[in-house]
Order: sequence, then structure tokens, then C-alpha cells
Amino acid sequence: MRVLRRTLGTLLALGAALSCTAARGDDARPGDDPPAALAPFEGLLPAPVSVRAAGPGYAVGPGTVIRTGAGPGEEVRRVGELLAEQWRGPSGLPLPVVGGSDGDGIRLRLDEEAEGVGDEGYRLESAPGGVTLTARTPAGLFHAGQTLRQLLPAAGPGTVPGGTVEDRPRFAYRGAMVDVARHFFTVEQVKRYVDQLVPYKVNALHVHLTDDQGWRLAVDSWPRLAEYGGGTEVGGGPGGYWTKEQYADLVAYAGERYVDVVPEIDMPGHVNAALASYAELNCDGRAPERYTGTKVGFSSLCVGKERTYEFVDEVLGEVAELTPGRYLHIGGDEAHSTPAADYEAFMDRAQAVVGRHGKTVVAWHQLSAAGPAEGAVLQYWGHDRTAAAEKAAVASAAQAGHPVILSPSDRLYLDMKYDAATKPGLTWAGYVPVERAYSWDPGAHLAGVPESAVLGVEAPLWTETVATRADWEFMAFPRMLGLAELGWSPAGSLGWDGYRKRLAAQGPRLDAQGVNYHRSPDVPWS
Ligand code: ACM
Repeated sequence: MRVLRRTLGTLLALGAALSCTAARGDDARPGDDPPAALAPFEGLLPAPVSVRAAGPGYAVGPGTVIRTGAGPGEEVRRVGELLAEQWRGPSGLPLPVVGGSDGDGIRLRLDEEAEGVGDEGYRLESAPGGVTLTARTPAGLFHAGQTLRQLLPAAGPGTVPGGTVEDRPRFAYRGAMVDVARHFFTVEQVKRYVDQLVPYKVNALHVHLTDDQGWRLAVDSWPRLAEYGGGTEVGGGPGGYWTKEQYADLVAYAGERYVDVVPEIDMPGHVNAALASYAELNCDGRAPERYTGTKVGFSSLCVGKERTYEFVDEVLGEVAELTPGRYLHIGGDEAHSTPAADYEAFMDRAQAVVGRHGKTVVAWHQLSAAGPAEGAVLQYWGHDRTAAAEKAAVASAAQAGHPVILSPSDRLYLDMKYDAATKPGLTWAGYVPVERAYSWDPGAHLAGVPESAVLGVEAPLWTETVATRADWEFMAFPRMLGLAELGWSPAGSLGWDGYRKRLAAQGPRLDAQGVNYHRSPDVPWS
């Protein structure tokens, strides 16, 4: 393996050298007509907005320093340190981080006037004297650093090809969801996922914290939720929960990497763990047993009871206080045991609670037919066979100004099997091979939901059948990279033929991170 990696490194470096001699002055879109062997800029994933290869590049070596500019630049310094930390191990280089901007090396430049890069984009310019990364925000510099790493071999030093990359995202929201309720996973495992996703510019992490099988976040005002309700999982294992400190640590870790955490407390259905923990939440005052199976739709909060709304207010208040991001997800899916009128009444009050705690509502798209509050975001998880009326309700909410996050289950549900040979996973939305997960256009997916109404895309990983880190990674990778490109790259750069080659070029990087990914036969892995 090591020999293979070194060979790959040499080949990539050779590719860089070749592209320097065969300087191309033209604007190339990475998705157009990809060459048989990818030149370094053409292996970038997500494909950037534009690339201009020009002249010789910058050789990274033992003398390379990261320069974080003059002035206060506290956060730029932190980005520089973070990039160095990510990159020291794989490169084997010391990469000291220093102030100032004069001299060769990697220069981070914050320029609030920089044009064409938006809030998260950047410009990367490479020449023999060094590489300059320019952005309007620290997040843009961080993303630029991820591009820079991809221009170098997965391991060892190398040469950044000469030229310019100009880049910015198509969609503001590029998310991953993890269900830590059906099977419990630690904060450490979720941090590892963050590390695996930030190289591809994913910027949102939705954590599904509560469900019938487990309540995974400590809540001071209702301690039995986690202590008792967190004490099992699908299959009857021991379960577990995150303390508030652990959750805050994850939020901070993700935030430092420009990933916003979106916590979900799923209501009024998917609440058996809460009902089992507190008899008073039940209409009949009797707590059910904890649940370790995989059925859905059998539990409901008691909509007519005032105590329910004290619960909602106190729980959401504590979660909001721990979460700096703007969104709070309140579920709202599969409330099959809540009569429709009760569902509407409950969601009205729950949405108002979110607003009172200073957050913006996100809910699964079932809310679209039941009165989303002003500004509420709808997360669409239907599929090609979802009833037309249900899709039309999402479209009319979008036209009324509700932003939509697209998570079509027959494209982006990472718990769907790739094919009949996939061991974990479900099939109710069909098989989702790597090509199907990637080959669709979020800007034109739902009739009546124009691109301007699409906040972004998110790929949920439900864990009824996913109990280990190995299975998690196998289901998420490589499909998460397709999500990343759909969320970031311009529509004109998308295309399976180019994408599968860009994806193959990421194989050595996933290997270097020890990711257990599915080596889909449709991808020309080296
Ligand atoms: C869902 O899959 N029930 C959102």
C-alpha cells in the first residue's frame, strides 16, 4: 500500500510538472470533456467554478511556511494553524505558521473587497514564488486551503500547479445528517465524520438526536430523557447519550471548521424514548416500555396537555442555548399517530417556541401542508413515487418563500443500499448506486421549486441497520462526495463522466484517511 501511495504521489507530481510545461491559457471547466488522465486542476472535487492553468507552479518542501498576513487577523491565524495541522501528517513537512505576507510560501489573504467569491468562495493563485489564497471571509480561506491540499499528492510533498482557481458555492447549505438515536455513536465518531467531510466543503451537520429508540442529549430540566431514554438502541444494545459538554465540544469542533451543527428534536412523533422516560408526557399518564425495534409512526406527544408544551419549551430552550447556529430542527415527519388537526395545532406551537428561543425552524417537508411559520425551512425527503399532492404542497410553500433543503430519499438517503450485494441498509426508496446519488440537478428536481428556493442539499444517514463505524463509512462514502459536488459546483460543471474520474482521483485520499468506502465498480479507481 505504502509503495502504491508513493507511486501515486510521484505520478501526481509528474502530472503537475507536465501541466507546467504544457501551459494552457484557456478557461477550462473541469466537467467539460475530461481528458483520459486528469491534470491536477481537473481532479478537484467539488469541481471549481473556473480554472486557468498558466506557467510553472510552486514546489512545496521543507522550507514552506504558511503566512497569515499583517494586522489583527486572529481568525486567519487560526485557519492557517488548522490547515497546517491537517496537512503536516500527510505531507511530512513542518509547515510553520507565521505572520506577515511578504516572501514565498502559502499566503492567506483576507480581502473584504475581493470580487466574485461571495461569502464562502476564494481565489487561489499559484506561481513559483508561492501560492496566494484570497477570500472575503475566514470560511473562504478555509475552503481555499482544502482545494490547495487536493492540488498536492495525498502523501508527501509536491508541486502546486501554476495558475488560478476562482471558486464559490452554488448553494449555501451543504449538509450531512447523522442519526445517533437508532444506534448510538460517540461525539468522537461524529468528529471523525466532520474531518472526512470538510475537505469537500460540506458546511452543515444535522444531528438527529432523538427518536423512538433513544434520547441522546442530556437535558437538565428533564434528566430522565437521556439517563433512562438514552439507555438502549435498536437491537437492545446499551445505547448512550452525549453530555451537554460533549455536545458543546462537537459544536465547537465543527464550528472551527466552518460546519454549523443543526440539532433535531423530532416531534410530535418519533418520541417513544421521551414517553418511556416520563409518564406525565402520556395522555393516559402511563409510560410505555422502551423500544428497540425499527417500526415508525406509533408514538405521539400528548397534544392536548399543557405539560407537553412546558416540555417542548424547556427542551428546545436548552438545545438552543447550546447551539450557536441559526437553525433548530423539530422533525415533524411520520406523525402517523397524531390526528391531522392535532398535528397542525402542535406544530404551530412548537414553531413559535423555536422563534421565541431565537432560532429558525427546520422541519421535514410534512410541515409544508400544515402551516410552516414565517421563514421556516422545509427538508424534502420524498422520492420519484411520492404523491403529486405532497410534492405540490412543498412547491407551494417554496413559492410562498420557504427555503427548501433537498434530501430526496431515492438519491441522498445514505442508508439505502447501493445494490443487492450491500450488507447494511434498506431498500424502500430503491437501490441508490453512486451514479444515481450524483446524477440529478438540485436546481430542477422538484416541479415548482426553482433553484432560487433551494437552500441546498443534505444527505441523511439513518442508522436502523448501521451499527458500526465501518458500516457508517461504507454507506456514506463515496456517496457523500457526490452530495458535496452537487451542493458546491456550478450546474454546468456537473456530469457523471467527468465526476467519476474526479471521484477516482480521491481514492488515495480516502485511503490515506483510512475511510472504509464502497469501491463502486462504476468508478475507475486506480
Ligand atoms: C424520514 O426519513 N422519516 C425523514
